[in-house]
Amino acid sequence: MKVHVGSGKNYLQGWINCDINSNHKYDREWDLLSSVTPFDDNSVDYIFTEHVLEHFTLKQAISILKAFRSVMKQGAVLRVVVPSLESLIEGYLYDEHFLDTYNSTFTDRKAAFKAQLFNRTFYEYGHKNMFDKQLLLFALRSAGFRHCDVRFFDSDSVGCEVFEGVGRRKYKVNSSVKNLTVEVVKR
Ligand SMILES: C[S@@+](CC[C@H](N)C(=O)[O-])C[C@H]1O[C@@H](n2cnc3c(N)ncnc32)[C@H](O)[C@@H]1O
Repeated sequence: MKVHVGSGKNYLQGWINCDINSNHKYDREWDLLSSVTPFDDNSVDYIFTEHVLEHFTLKQAISILKAFRSVMKQGAVLRVVVPSLESLIEGYLYDEHFLDTYNSTFTDRKAAFKAQLFNRTFYEYGHKNMFDKQLLLFALRSAGFRHCDVRFFDSDSVGCEVFEGVGRRKYKVNSSVKNLTVEVVKR
């Protein structure tokens, strides 16, 4: 069973798409803030979730990762994609095209200043907690993925081929707008 959590506008064929926003098509309701999961324990083979975890506090994100772990079978793979805090900081400090890159990626509103982009990333879109590798690893370990293989990806590349092409958030190579992606196997 392949489960896509917080699917939003990205309805994936062949996956059980879960969300709570009825503006978008989904297959199963899963309120990530509820203690009830719509799947049996040890029943899911793959979980994909993109640009979702940053919408929760760190404590909530850890509970959500725990819920993922519970429904995953032994050997099941979880792929988490979040906006990269590290890239944002690097872009701000070192990329002379940072403002232009963001303005051409997110065309709804132009920013005049780099600091506006920072503030947006932290305080808008419903974001509550930004991750770098260290914090995402801490969240995974805290959720029980203790002795598991954890692989990080800076780009859209995948480790497990099931996730090939599933992502919606694809950014240009060499862009300072980047995802932080991790794949973890339940052991
Ligand atoms: C930024 S959107 C990302 C959507 C999609 N994954 C994408 O990358 O385009 C965040 C998604 O998380 C969902 N979401 C927010 N809070 C949620 C909750 N408590 N339970 C389940 N889904 C939630 C929203 O409805 C939305 O579809």
